[in-house]
Amino acid sequence: MSLPFTAPLAAHEHAAYADAAAMVAALRPEQPVYCIRPHVLREAARHFVETFPGKVLYAVKCNAEPAFLDALHEGGIRHFDTASLPEISVVAERFADTTSYFMHPVKQRGGIRAAYGQHGVRHFVVDHADELAKVMVETGGAADAVIVVRLATARGAAVYDLGGKFGASPAQAAALLRQAYGAGRRVGLSFHVGSQCLTPGSYTAALRLAAHTLDLAGVPLSVIDVGGGFPVAYVGLHPPPLEDYVAAIRAGLAGMELPAECELWCEPGRALVAAGASLVVRVELRRDNFLYINDGVYGSLSDLKYAGLRFPMRVLRPVGDRVEVLEENLGEFSLFGPTCDAVDVMEGPYRLAADVREGDYIEIGQAGAYTLELRTDFNGFCPDRFVEVGDGAFLPTAEMEPVPFLSAAAE
Ligand SMILES: Cc1ncc(COP(=O)(O)O)c(C=O)c1O
Repeated sequence: MSLPFTAPLAAHEHAAYADAAAMVAALRPEQPVYCIRPHVLREAARHFVETFPGKVLYAVKCNAEPAFLDALHEGGIRHFDTASLPEISVVAERFADTTSYFMHPVKQRGGIRAAYGQHGVRHFVVDHADELAKVMVETGGAADAVIVVRLATARGAAVYDLGGKFGASPAQAAALLRQAYGAGRRVGLSFHVGSQCLTPGSYTAALRLAAHTLDLAGVPLSVIDVGGGFPVAYVGLHPPPLEDYVAAIRAGLAGMELPAECELWCEPGRALVAAGASLVVRVELRRDNFLYINDGVYGSLSDLKYAGLRFPMRVLRPVGDRVEVLEENLGEFSLFGPTCDAVDVMEGPYRLAADVREGDYIEIGQAGAYTLELRTDFNGFCPDRFVEVGDGAFLPTAEMEPVPFLSAAAE
């Protein structure tokens, strides 16, 4: 995690360019450059806030860069899912009109004390009796601390499963709800269906589990929190629109008996920020259909390897003073990152201009989520250059899809 106040990013530039090609023409950068699109972030925030029928808590872990936080705030985000004291501090230092919620199920005692005492945080997630006791003690027995119990959900059609590490069973969650409510606290129930969840029905199923938990607990809920997981498009992955997820959530809520004052929350990360940046990397060497580029698995691109996500890509080629965008006559390539570790490979295949060569740049779209937050400086490579660009989001197109294998029978 590279939060700005712990590791100031020296290379922020306020320069703005029409698009990534214009940036390459002007800078010919040796290092990877993030091309941030604040207008895309603002629009994503506006759309989510208008479409979701409850509070939208942005999951700060997904991207804590100030430019992203500011654009989301301008788009209407006022609530933040924070998982650590540094994340809470970043939000508190930036905005005077926002609320942070401590959504990590396992917290440091000092973090709970400072969150409650110094930053006015009032909502704390727990999934274990010892954590509940910790929150009770470290908030000084305060009755206004709201306890949100995290329920484990079954692995659904999500690219990342978050159920194995956190979450209580319905019986355990019901016991925690009863204990906290019995101690005079307001209580809520939360879950996370997994990141990049491709099936809206996963939310309905999780809410069914929540309804069952509530039946066991027999206490009034102040909050029902459907978590994150709202997906975005990658090459080969075209999820349904947000409206379908909202309909599935409404269907799940219809099966629950909730007090009128119960609040509905969600905690999106990826869906708010993925399209808000593309990343421009440079080809340092071509060996057959392998391209050695200047960012990789230890930098911004671990999702390409570990989640197998294929981000949209196109070649930008400097020709004299100009930069050509090559989006036709494509071939299939794998990528090597810049470090010396053989793990630093992204097999793809990714469809790029067939004659791509050393000195070309590759623009990688949907690069605003879980990219720069996960980078390391292993081997001395750490992408940290940022500019603004004014064009639309760079999204996957049909041409980027793998060419289907035609069997003899089909021909
Ligand atoms: C508790 C919690 N909430 C929200 C998120 C954001 O999830 P997503 O980016 O899939 O929307 C995460 C991601 O790990 C999480 O752990």
